[in-house]
Amino acid sequence: MTDVDELVRSAEAVRAAFPDPWIRSFSVKANDVSAIVGRVTGLGFGANVVSRGEWTVARRAGFPNKFITFEGIGKTDEDLRAALRASRDGAPLRWLAIESLDEARSLVRLATRGPAHGTLDLLFRHNPGVLPDTHAGLAVGTATSKFGMTADEVTAAIALVVDAPGLRPRGIHLHVGSQLRSIDAWRDGIRRSLALGALMRGTWPDFDTLDVGGGFPVLPEDEPAPDPARFAREVPDLLAQVPDDRRPTRLAIEPGRVLVARAGYLVGRVLHVRERQGRQVILDVGMSDLIRPALYGARHEIIGLTSLGRPWDRSAASQGPVAPARVEGPICESTDHLGEHRLPDLHRGDLVAIRDTGAYAASLSSTYNGRPRVPQVLLEDNGRLVLARRRGSVNRLG
Ligand SMILES: Cc1ncc(COP(=O)(O)O)c(C=O)c1O
Repeated sequence: MTDVDELVRSAEAVRAAFPDPWIRSFSVKANDVSAIVGRVTGLGFGANVVSRGEWTVARRAGFPNKFITFEGIGKTDEDLRAALRASRDGAPLRWLAIESLDEARSLVRLATRGPAHGTLDLLFRHNPGVLPDTHAGLAVGTATSKFGMTADEVTAAIALVVDAPGLRPRGIHLHVGSQLRSIDAWRDGIRRSLALGALMRGTWPDFDTLDVGGGFPVLPEDEPAPDPARFAREVPDLLAQVPDDRRPTRLAIEPGRVLVARAGYLVGRVLHVRERQGRQVILDVGMSDLIRPALYGARHEIIGLTSLGRPWDRSAASQGPVAPARVEGPICESTDHLGEHRLPDLHRGDLVAIRDTGAYAASLSSTYNGRPRVPQVLLEDNGRLVLARRRGSVNRLG
């Protein structure tokens, strides 16, 4: 379930931290449910996509191409052709971010071979070689990571595309990682990318853009984390270190998680409760709906909604004590584990809610073990529940 009020509050906080003329794009990979992407359209964000699939979702949600940026390590020739075709048809993407020299060569080959087309603006994904304070699996700006280009490769990629018809180098793209617990690596990454951009701008005056990616954290409430405003406060000093005429004039962010995570609740039903050197509770939702705990050891708070078949209010002590429980998902993998939580008395059929599941849950879900996708419901600000996506069907599996 997605709480629309919370979605709006999160978007407003990001917008206040990075006001116009910042270009703000929602990273659709965080949540690709069309109805939710659609809600973001009206909140002052464009869309950032990594595939034609996400591009289609963004279009369907109401974003025109001029508000869509396309980046990602997985772009195929067909993706590149589609981006060129959109420019040729007079509806160019806001930009395409080049991931590697191989990709730059392919794009040049396709641009040169194809029919005449309009202009496609290009950013170049820079790997700044910094080590962010986050889970190793979420640190993508390290020197050995598979993402982006070294400064030398960026220079070479620009040289490759600069004479190709209809391709215009516009700037640098970087993203150092997700769930950034401190701002240091983000700041260092931006400093390095600004220096590279300044160098390029000396030769190409159109090279005016810096997209600093996403990464703003959403952690359990008892873990300290910098908010978007804290990140934004770093930017003026960083820009001041670059000479006026070499500074980017267009700045962009592409957050995902911070916009949608807190708004999401994954509701599960208890299947089994038993003693296994402590209480073990097994739910009917798990890693096929929310893979983050199994993938990164992420912790999501779990709260009881009903206890022994009756609504449970954790603020009313009279309703009974909470006690530790080891919570597990229903998948045939022992890594499908949701952590230790303090929960009320539970029996089969009781409901719990897993919190902060609006990001990287639905978009990373699978039908493993033959389990159709869970339905998506929006909680509107007037309290109405609206079905945004039906539960998947067993008839469409396999
Ligand atoms: C290039 C890029 N930009 C933006 C994001 C969004 O990151 P987050 O959801 O942490 O804001 C990601 C996430 O992986 C990414 O790879």
